[in-house]
Amino acid sequence: MFEVLVTGGAGYIGSHTCVSLLDAGFSVVIADDLSNSKFEAISRIRSITGNKVTFYPYDVTDEIELEKIFTRHSIRCVVHFAGKKAVGESVEMPLEYYRTNLLSTISLTRVMKRHNVKNIVFSSSATVYGNSKKVPYSETAPTGNCTNPYAWTKWMNERILTDVHRSDPDWSVILLRYFNPVGAHPSGQIGEDPLGIPNNLFPYVTQVAVGKLDRLPIFGSDYPTKDGTGVRDFIHVMDLAEGHVSAVRKCIQDYGVHAINLGSGKGYSVLEVLHAFEEATGKEIPHYFCPRREGDVAVSYASTKKAAQELRWRAQRDLREMCQDAWNWQKLNPLGY
Ligand code: UD1
Repeated sequence: MFEVLVTGGAGYIGSHTCVSLLDAGFSVVIADDLSNSKFEAISRIRSITGNKVTFYPYDVTDEIELEKIFTRHSIRCVVHFAGKKAVGESVEMPLEYYRTNLLSTISLTRVMKRHNVKNIVFSSSATVYGNSKKVPYSETAPTGNCTNPYAWTKWMNERILTDVHRSDPDWSVILLRYFNPVGAHPSGQIGEDPLGIPNNLFPYVTQVAVGKLDRLPIFGSDYPTKDGTGVRDFIHVMDLAEGHVSAVRKCIQDYGVHAINLGSGKGYSVLEVLHAFEEATGKEIPHYFCPRREGDVAVSYASTKKAAQELRWRAQRDLREMCQDAWNWQKLNPLGY
């Protein structure tokens, strides 16, 4: 079987995707400079799958290093996760975000082109829909109007890859727009391990549950939603990972550019998540209400029709399973990796 290169394969979504690709029988090569992840994630991928996945601690913006990988391996498809991902940080240091997130895609596609590898699955985000108000978000909804540099880098990378395909129709590009990935592998061996105080809801909740943080701040209680708190489309990270396996299969058989949402299609409010977590784990989550967080939208959830049609994929796991698996990971790894 040919090889799939996963950039950023030691990260949260990347590591789960590597496990799913290996489970599906693909050979996987990982490139990750470990700037926001740990080598331990690679060891755990190996221990879950029993597979000797090849790992390169390379910076994906560096063409010379990428050349070595493409020379040594017969890569047929690339799943490109490597990049910076913290919204707030991107506002503070935009140049770092534009440099890393755009240059990695440019270097990667230049090297791919030299080696005649023209299949790429890109890790995009529902954030490209910006302030678009109409839910569910369908892939034909307008994009742009982003509220921070991180979001713009996703949007610009979609643009770059679309233009690469325009210049050479042999390219097969799949842009996966994630909603809110949460949870962990059921073994509890890999999961989300944010540095410092988490920005996202689920890791915050699990760190309160484990006693690392005191209380959950709830950003906004006056949204026009069922209980006043924000509504999001939470998707189990293993469902998301399996969506990538389907995307790789499509990518290698197909040509063109396809933007596809990966979400569950259901919206849950912050309070609903809190209660589901308490029920699934038996842990109480102390919380308090505070003003809305800048840049947040009231409601976001996916139209899942295109993923069902084009990828023959649908999210299977419910909110309870997301809570149980997130908690299992946190309990087994209270300090992360
Ligand atoms: C955020 C990013 C998004 C990114 C995604 C990656 C913003 C504005 N958006 O999405 O671009 O692709 O993460 O996973 O940062 N909440 C609380 N208390 C908390 C944390 C969150 O109430 O401590 C609320 C938020 O206000 C929101 C919901 O929980 O209503 C989900 O927040 P979060 O997990 O940060 O995800 P998004 O903001 O949807």
